[in-house]
Amino acid sequence: MEHIYLDHAATTPMDKRVIEAMVPIYEEVFGNPSSVHAYGRKARQLLDEARRTLAKSIHANEKEIIFTSGGTEADNLALIGTALANKHKGNHIITTNIEHHATLHTAEYLEKEGFKVTYLPVQDNGKIDIIDLKKALKHDTILVSVMYVNNETGIIQPIEEIGELLKDHQAYFHTDAVQAYGSIEIDVDKLGVDLLSVSAHKINGPKGIGFLYARESIKLNALQFGGEQERKRRPGTENVVGVIGFKTAVELMVKERESRNEKYEAFRQQFLQVLKEENITFDINGKIDSTIPSIINISFSGTNVEKLLANFDLSGVAASSGSACTAGSVEPSHVLSAIYGANNPCTTNSIRFSFGAANTTENVVEAAHRVAKIIKRLVK
Ligand SMILES: Cc1ncc(COP(=O)(O)O)c(C=O)c1O
Repeated sequence: MEHIYLDHAATTPMDKRVIEAMVPIYEEVFGNPSSVHAYGRKARQLLDEARRTLAKSIHANEKEIIFTSGGTEADNLALIGTALANKHKGNHIITTNIEHHATLHTAEYLEKEGFKVTYLPVQDNGKIDIIDLKKALKHDTILVSVMYVNNETGIIQPIEEIGELLKDHQAYFHTDAVQAYGSIEIDVDKLGVDLLSVSAHKINGPKGIGFLYARESIKLNALQFGGEQERKRRPGTENVVGVIGFKTAVELMVKERESRNEKYEAFRQQFLQVLKEENITFDINGKIDSTIPSIINISFSGTNVEKLLANFDLSGVAASSGSACTAGSVEPSHVLSAIYGANNPCTTNSIRFSFGAANTTENVVEAAHRVAKIIKRLVK
């Protein structure tokens, strides 16, 4: 049985070209970039080049890139770092109730530390209402954090519009672009964002590396203390091999983004087509034209994610859901609860299928047939 991976929003396989770029660094460039000798200088040079490539990919300058261990750390640094550095200007933060837990749990931590947090709701299209944001903004709001693309549904938030609204407000604007980066071309000035989180393992790069873009003018406290790396904003010897893998993944992504999007859109349509041909009853969470092409979140009424995911896995199809399964019960997805209400069946019967480099038309179609067979068996 062929295993078929449809969980690229969780993580992606590394591109072979990324691995090929990393191997010589493992073998040859082991110097510490802070060392003044030739070994250190070589590592520093590679690090600087990579920083320029990453900055260019979001139209930023290289001083604004802070390497982190991934998206979670970038979100933590964005929220806690700016909250602590700007508390003299206010203690109010706005975010949404559909954020990734890297943001939500950080916001909850800040509440315990005395900050006031407003969690914006979403409309039934899964997007925040700009009017709600306008109403929530106060004179002492210091930070607004709204994710670019939701990791469960793929729904895109109106980031440019939010940036425009915040242009004349003191609040910094952070966006978690972990799921957006591989699909949408990003220009931080056009979007009006001050902080932006990215992670390499979502774009066929290595795990354990990401960055936080932080506009040069913003005040940000470090969350750890040590050396002078990353302009003291994130001390610790740099992950040079990871950075080189990340750089290579970004170069490939920038070149191939458009063709990848076209390919994933075709996969998504082929997948849905098979379900339709097999007469499966399903609903899509999120309008197709406001989601990124690589993600489709589908509700199968009359069943639940625990049964579905176990059966998919047995049939060799890897997918996932935002609902956590804990010892016989299913915790509803917080994202779908925000869209449909806490007790809506969609919150416990929806599956995210996400397409990427591990897919071909053949294996996507085959996966859809296996999914259809299971749904027919489970939903009588
Ligand atoms: C939207 C979003 N933010 C943050 C993260 C966390 O990123 P990382 O796994 O690199 O810590 C993820 C990963 O699933 C994500 O999808």
